[in-house]
Amino acid sequence: MNEAYELDVNGVRYPINAAMDRNLSSVLRTEVGLTGTKEGCDDCECGACMVLIDGQPVNSCSYLAAQAQGREVTTVEGILDGDNLHPLQRNLLEEGGVQCGFCTPGMIMSAQALLTRNPSPTEEEIRIGLSGNLCRCTGYQRILAAVERTAAES
Ligand code: FES
Ligand code: FES
Repeated sequence: MNEAYELDVNGVRYPINAAMDRNLSSVLRTEVGLTGTKEGCDDCECGACMVLIDGQPVNSCSYLAAQAQGREVTTVEGILDGDNLHPLQRNLLEEGGVQCGFCTPGMIMSAQALLTRNPSPTEEEIRIGLSGNLCRCTGYQRILAAVERTAAES
């Protein structure tokens, strides 16, 4: 049975009408209409569904949407700088850190959380910060380079 509640996503309040056992990634994609957040393993393993909740990275496939009431949810759509790409997005593109792109939104959200808490991370700290995000395409090195470049620019 559906219930009505509200979610704050990227600074906008959305009315939701959904079953209380729906996970956040599913509600973001189908009820809110923000499909940047990807669903991969649906089992807290791959990080494709990573969003920020009150600034903390969370696998949204394993987080009930209803639990996010009263919290600020940030998705990859929420980090755009107006019409401009976020520096992480631009650097991932320029460093060749995007191939199929399926992991990219989750990588960006984890990297954003890392750079917020640690603006000048070492390579090892970047590896640890992104350790919950799997990429099948790039071999990770170009993603690391993009995060390092973003840190160096800020
Ligand atoms: S889809 Fe959520 S961790 Fe893989
Ligand atoms: S670019 Fe394809 S999974 Fe990372």
